[in-house]
Amino acid sequence: MLDEKAKRTLLRNIPHPLNICGVKEGDDVNGFTLSWMTQASFKPPLIVIGVRQDSRSHAMIKASQVFAVSFLEVSQQDLAETFFKPQQRIGDKFGDVEFYLGEETGCPIIASALGFVECRVQGSLEEGDHSIFMGEVIAAGQHRDGQPLWMKDTPWNYGG
Ligand SMILES: Cc1cc2nc3c(=O)[nH]c(=O)nc-3n(C[C@H](O)[C@H](O)[C@H](O)COP(=O)(O)O)c2cc1C
Repeated sequence: MLDEKAKRTLLRNIPHPLNICGVKEGDDVNGFTLSWMTQASFKPPLIVIGVRQDSRSHAMIKASQVFAVSFLEVSQQDLAETFFKPQQRIGDKFGDVEFYLGEETGCPIIASALGFVECRVQGSLEEGDHSIFMGEVIAAGQHRDGQPLWMKDTPWNYGG
């Protein structure tokens, strides 16, 4: 028996960071708030991310096979809020947000973030309403020290 309430409560106990995943397709760039991310291998360095299938970013990762994750500081909740709105509804999310393009992938990286990893997709699984993309970390850089932003620091939930 699947106890819906138990599932939601327990799955929401999984600790999640809140970061921005930068994506591109041709010259077009976009980004979305990402919480479903974990490391999956030391050698080679692999991470997996869960991406909503109906998002613009999903189509862009499928097309380009690259993405970059900008790691937010605890004080940057406003950026998480900007980037969880769909591009389709609000247009260019990078508006006033300073960013540069990653050297390896060309994906947007937020200049004020704590740092970034750039990834090339090595595998994917399209099941359910989100796809899993497994990316090899092919570049990484730290901009500065700071406390990372976690879901528990915010009023939001994503999961369950
Ligand atoms: C707190 C929070 C965490 C989120 N985590 C994820 C996530 O891990 N993966 C995902 O695909 N969407 C996640 N989202 C939803 C996306 O950020 C949202 O669908 C976004 O609008 C997609 O943008 P796009 O359509 O411009 O690509 C999250 C939303 C919130 C509020």
